[in-house]
Amino acid sequence: MKKSVFVTGAHDGTGFAIAERFAKEGYDVFVGSRDQEKAASAASKIREKYGVLAKGYVYQTTILDETEVKAIFNDIRANGYLLDALVLNAANLGIGQVSLDVDINDFMGVYTTNIGWNFLMAREAAKQMKEKGKGAIVFIGSNSSVRVTENRCAYCSSKSAINAMSKSFAVDWGKYGIRSNCVLPGMIKTVRWEQNVNNAKYCLPNYTPIEDIATFEDVANAVWYLGSDASRNTTGAEIVVDGGMLAQLTPNINRELWNE
Ligand SMILES: NC(=O)c1ccc[n+]([C@@H]2O[C@H](COP(=O)([O-])OP(=O)(O)OC[C@H]3O[C@@H](n4cnc5c(N)ncnc54)[C@H](OP(=O)(O)O)[C@@H]3O)[C@@H](O)[C@H]2O)c1
Repeated sequence: MKKSVFVTGAHDGTGFAIAERFAKEGYDVFVGSRDQEKAASAASKIREKYGVLAKGYVYQTTILDETEVKAIFNDIRANGYLLDALVLNAANLGIGQVSLDVDINDFMGVYTTNIGWNFLMAREAAKQMKEKGKGAIVFIGSNSSVRVTENRCAYCSSKSAINAMSKSFAVDWGKYGIRSNCVLPGMIKTVRWEQNVNNAKYCLPNYTPIEDIATFEDVANAVWYLGSDASRNTTGAEIVVDGGMLAQLTPNINRELWNE
């Protein structure tokens, strides 16, 4: 049976780079998206570039439809696979949720996707992995699960919950050969970052000791490590990919002055 990975939120950006990283290693790839055409198009790009099997799956994440999630994994099984790795990259970013004003339904919407839906996806994947006797679940969390950003209460607290959910799976399913780990990126060079939200681009040397933030590939490399046998003795763990941002207590306002 060929090795396979399912990556959520994988039609472009970080998720697509993760899907490519596994395809480069010869894995067959299942690409998840909320948009059927985008999922199919991303899968087709991977097929053409890496010569592996790649298939797109569509889902919705705003209500918890267990039947839909089960149907995805039944289809994977019907295609002759028991999943080796699941990468939970898709996230409701909960941007603009001012804590004093946020509608509770919008707040809980972040939890529906980041916690409820991720839980359903992980549980169905784990059933296949249990049958196979091994498997790896990798969550894309965030360094904002440890130190938070303004007016992102739902997002940051959901990412903290993801760290605990991953540890719970590590403890609950370790006996079945299933490992569960998190990658915690800091800022990633996404389109949003390129558009310089919060002047982030100009503050870069202040934010991170190594004066750089993560590329999609930096995140994908950490995911590959945790999702493959290279990390066979690692579970319930977190790898931080943030240029050292979490390690630095205060921003370096003027590095040259400080060093004088
Ligand atoms: N960007 C950063 O600086 C940063 C920092 C720390 C952690 N992270 C984490 O890294 C991962 C990727 O980040 P990113 O910036 O590349 O994210 P993104 O592009 O905003 O989102 C990743 C994918 O998730 C899906 N998605 C977006 N909004 C969603 C929603 N409301 N509900 C369900 N799915 C949704 C989209 O896929 P479809 O449209 O195909 O469904 C999207 O391509 C996320 O888990 C994020 O929390 C990012």
